[in-house]
Amino acid sequence: MSGEAKLPKEFLWGYATASYQIEGSASEGGRAPSIWDAFCKTPGKIRDGSSGDIASDSYRLWKEDVVLLTSYGVKAYRFSLSWSRIIPKGGRNDPINEEGIQFYRTLLEELLHNGIVPFVTLHHWDSPQGLHDKYGGWLNKDEIIEDYVNYAKVCFRAFGDIVQNWITHNEPWCVSLLGYGSGRFAPGHVGDTEHWIVAHNLLLAHAYAVKAYREEFKPAQGGQIGITLDCQWTIPYDDSPETTARALDFKLTRFADPIYRGQYPARVKTIIGDRLPEFSPEERAIVQGSSDFFGLNTYTTHVIQHDGDGDESVGFVKMGHTRSDGTQLGTQSEFDWLQTYGPGFRNLLNYLWKTYQKPIYVTENGFAVKNENNVTSQEAIHDKDRAEYFEQYTKALLQAVTEDGADVRGYFGWSLLDNFEWADGYLVRFGVTRVDYDTQRRTPKDSAAFLSKWFKDHIHG
Ligand code: NOJ
Repeated sequence: MSGEAKLPKEFLWGYATASYQIEGSASEGGRAPSIWDAFCKTPGKIRDGSSGDIASDSYRLWKEDVVLLTSYGVKAYRFSLSWSRIIPKGGRNDPINEEGIQFYRTLLEELLHNGIVPFVTLHHWDSPQGLHDKYGGWLNKDEIIEDYVNYAKVCFRAFGDIVQNWITHNEPWCVSLLGYGSGRFAPGHVGDTEHWIVAHNLLLAHAYAVKAYREEFKPAQGGQIGITLDCQWTIPYDDSPETTARALDFKLTRFADPIYRGQYPARVKTIIGDRLPEFSPEERAIVQGSSDFFGLNTYTTHVIQHDGDGDESVGFVKMGHTRSDGTQLGTQSEFDWLQTYGPGFRNLLNYLWKTYQKPIYVTENGFAVKNENNVTSQEAIHDKDRAEYFEQYTKALLQAVTEDGADVRGYFGWSLLDNFEWADGYLVRFGVTRVDYDTQRRTPKDSAAFLSKWFKDHIHG
């Protein structure tokens, strides 16, 4: 790699967060419960029995968060809107909560005032509980599409004059498979059929929202809109390219192919059979081409192998991180699923660019550090493993862009703050900023300093 290699001057970097994970003030400002509020109250669902009721208190401390972002020198910030803060009951005939609109409007204005480009996610998992009670939420195709599109239009109308970058859903794989398959996430359904229906409905709701944006708002507002999918790179334990292809089909292509090519992958259709819903010709035409960019959340690389007796929804693969020669891929995080392995990131970026030819925004990338809960804030800020992770991943990013020619336009570290990590509650931390949950005091960690310096040095001035 040449020492002079740099990212183009328009390259955007920053941090990502999500409403339920940071805001808290769950019953303040007119907000009504989301499916995560309800799920957290179900005993046994969250490892430490916690919830996002307070989280990182960003509903109250948002100004401090913008000061942090500014001090880090970011160019962009990705955050999500809480649907039930904007339309508490969620539906198309339900009242809009002006206090919620005002909250996000003020945040957006403060970001712009500080020269930070907002990337706004409409749905990062916290859909209104009211809609789930009323008609089954994401399972009810016609109702949820109409209500989601209405919500999206309320947001485009309220913020579209100052938001140029929209993301419809965050990680539909997690929403569907973990929410309606394994039951690890809200609303906690278990089974092998519902999650295919939910995934299908998420795709359709996304596509109709994009259609509405392009037809009714984009001509005047001129922004871009897309979706964020999650995927890790895979290395076949058995050296079989078929294994990689199959894993990618069940994780990524099942969402990406309909969006960028207009159909589900053949392998998925064959294996899932009539549990996989079909698009009508009209729907197919609306889904195809419904993302202006490729939003990618990626954290790690997995070594995989066929497992004929395994869960077919993940394509008969077993995930792990031990190579066939017995060596491990990289540094182990607090999570079984997350190890540091920069070369896998480079491969994934190349694969996505070659396959879909869409500009890529890495909308999340980050590392959970072990034992950070058991140490003092002063010790926790020296997050060596996280800083090393970012060192490897930024190197891979630079190589993918400057040596391989992948069109990557942005990178968001996960996350600006330590926050509520879903079913793991507060037991693991992803922030580049330490949050002391007793005082809500924010303290920058070494990883934040690393990324600030790295991007300062590696983006053309
Ligand atoms: C992806 C999700 O979008 C985010 O909400 C979560 O906290 C991170 N992964 C880390 O698990």
